[in-house]
Amino acid sequence: MGYRIATIAAHAGRVSDQPGQPVASPISLSTTFVQGAPGEYDEHAYSRVGNPTRDALERTLATLESGSSAAVFSSGCAAMHAALQLLGPGDQLVACGDIYGGTYRLIEQLVRPMGVEVAWVDMCDVAAVEAAMTGRTKMLWIETPTNPLLRVFDIEALSTLAQSQGALCVVDNTFATPLLQRPLELGADVVVHSMSKYLNGHSDVVAGAIIANADEVSDRLRFIQRAGGAVPSPFDCYLVARGIKTLPLRMTRHCENAQTLAEWLGEQDGVVAVHYPGLEQHPEHELAARQRGAFGGMVAFEVAGGLERARAVLGRVRLFSLAESLGGVESLIGQPALMSHASMPKEVREAQGIRDGLIRVSVGLEAIEDLQQDLAQALLTP
Ligand SMILES: Cc1ncc(COP(=O)(O)O)c(C=O)c1O
Repeated sequence: MGYRIATIAAHAGRVSDQPGQPVASPISLSTTFVQGAPGEYDEHAYSRVGNPTRDALERTLATLESGSSAAVFSSGCAAMHAALQLLGPGDQLVACGDIYGGTYRLIEQLVRPMGVEVAWVDMCDVAAVEAAMTGRTKMLWIETPTNPLLRVFDIEALSTLAQSQGALCVVDNTFATPLLQRPLELGADVVVHSMSKYLNGHSDVVAGAIIANADEVSDRLRFIQRAGGAVPSPFDCYLVARGIKTLPLRMTRHCENAQTLAEWLGEQDGVVAVHYPGLEQHPEHELAARQRGAFGGMVAFEVAGGLERARAVLGRVRLFSLAESLGGVESLIGQPALMSHASMPKEVREAQGIRDGLIRVSVGLEAIEDLQQDLAQALLTP
């Protein structure tokens, strides 16, 4: 019998459930493992290739995402880079235009120079995605909800389209986490995560993961993992597994706080737009409600007065920390144009609607009244 997701999460990283085995995952620091004879390998041989603490985390991730196997990496970017190495010269990649700046940089500066043709498309428009695909399309790259504008794409429709053209559908599920959205169940082939965000949840690990459910793809990704060697330490794997144990509770609170904050922001003077899929006026509110269990912990809003006013608001916050990243227990605030999306050219950014006055918040687990009070005083800036 398969357990429900909260149960799987609570047992994250469990090495074994046999009598006498530890309940909390041991951190197995050994780089190497004794062999019976030269060339004869038991379950583990060398920790770049496999390690008990890492294996336990990978098993949990595969189960959480309904995949057959998972491979973890030393960062989300390393995981994405590994997935993109499934492409080769002459292949076409179709990716969503509204995307994390680091993914844009990775694709433009490391993947395109490999001879991969790249098309950036607004994936809210499935017909536009189909029109952009050629006989050489090998991969659709979807980030949903997007960073920073929280647009939501139809994973099922895009996966069906990819499949009909013989392409892989890859979903960056960092913002939603498997608690809110399980892309493999909707037809996607590969899920990538920055585990530096919600999965770990405590802003103290940089790590990434890929989960797949076709043996051929999984085998290739695991080969890239051990041959490329961008693996996380056993200690980081332990911390991520520990974080996952409370993921269901944390996500519930992140979602509640974000919904309340988004509604409240919509009533504040000087706020000209609020982007949150849980708001009825969000263009994909209905799709988000259908596709996801809840609407997530990220909110973006735009202030009148552009760059200078956004900078002033960020200069006045006291409880929110002005910092990169997201998904931790503490609330963070940032200005995408100068921070997470600085590596995207201004004209590309603005064409996506990422204007200078946009502020992005990762809503943490604090008392919502304290978060509102902090933003209220920051928004009073003349
Ligand atoms: C949606 C998304 N994917 C991937 C990444 C990259 O992850 P990492 O910073 O762990 O390399 C980030 C980082 O912010 C992100 O927001």
